[in-house]
Amino acid sequence: RIPILRSVPSLRSWRRPYMVNQRIVGLVPTMGALHKGHISLIRQAARECHEVVISIYVNPAQFGIKEDLASYPVTFDSDVAELARLDRELVDDGGNLGHISAVFAPTTADMYPSGFPGQEVDSTGSFVTITPVSNILEGASRPTFFRGVATVCMKLFNAVQPDRAYFGQKDVQQAVVIRKMERDFLLPTEIVIGPTMREQDGLALSSRNVYLGTRRRAVATVLSSALQAAEKAYASGKTATSAILGAANQVASRELQDQLALKPKERALFEVDYLALSDPETMEEVEAADPSKGAILTGAIRMLQVQDPQEGEDLGHSGGPLVRLIDNIILQPR
Ligand code: PAJ
Repeated sequence: RIPILRSVPSLRSWRRPYMVNQRIVGLVPTMGALHKGHISLIRQAARECHEVVISIYVNPAQFGIKEDLASYPVTFDSDVAELARLDRELVDDGGNLGHISAVFAPTTADMYPSGFPGQEVDSTGSFVTITPVSNILEGASRPTFFRGVATVCMKLFNAVQPDRAYFGQKDVQQAVVIRKMERDFLLPTEIVIGPTMREQDGLALSSRNVYLGTRRRAVATVLSSALQAAEKAYASGKTATSAILGAANQVASRELQDQLALKPKERALFEVDYLALSDPETMEEVEAADPSKGAILTGAIRMLQVQDPQEGEDLGHSGGPLVRLIDNIILQPR
């Protein structure tokens, strides 16, 4: 049985002996609804740390007022069962340094002791703001998102005091924000970034994929395909952003044409929110990729509500008709 720690005091007393014994403690922060992306980060943490803590907390501060906080998938019991299975496997596999030692599942009263400050842009309260990276790309569409992420991660780090914390490349701008927070606030926690886990057809795993339904699920691969086309353009020697993103845009517009050619009841339409080529450290958009530094290709699309949804496509649990998907590819220096 994995201990489930539900308060900061219980976490602190659990943590204390490991400090004395100088055990390496790794933290994998999550919002639950665990999938193979989370699991891969946990496996990596167990290879590199003696004790792995998984936090499961749906952080209200990183949801916008109109976003899907109320309907965000919560599967706590099956998450814990999955972690228990994984833990037995990690213990049996001699190649790991450690295993899952605890689940930290705090309440909002614990995480926000002065009361939850609210989700509005102009809310007053205690926040960690990392700018300008938090204002661009994902931050432009979701103005309080990275403030909420940085704030909750700072709290989780202070509560757990991990030697290492693991984040997925899937949310690359989040990883850049947390790295900058580590550096600028002199945090003693080492930030480790794990690779993006994908479905067979390329779709990046995400807890929100369950909202898609079959028809949109099939078309959702357009995002990873577009990014792959852009990566190919870079690999073939192109460096101008217009040329690299042009390749991605072409894939997206071709898919949209194909969808529009279908009957309305068979279509899954989408809008490209952005496709961008950025500096790998700051995420600022660049005119061209610098082959000596590499670059980060990111994209976000909105899968629109389908007409006349069939079984498996009803969106009653999604909190809204739109499903926004993000993905990225890191273009390596060459
Ligand atoms: P969540 O979406 O639950 O993701 C938890 C961690 O899993 C993040 O570091 C995320 O980047 C990683 N992850 C998600 N999908 C992945 C995939 N397909 N492959 C590899 N890693 C993947 O991200 C958050 O929660 C929150 O913002 C959090 C950091 C917990 C703060 O509340």
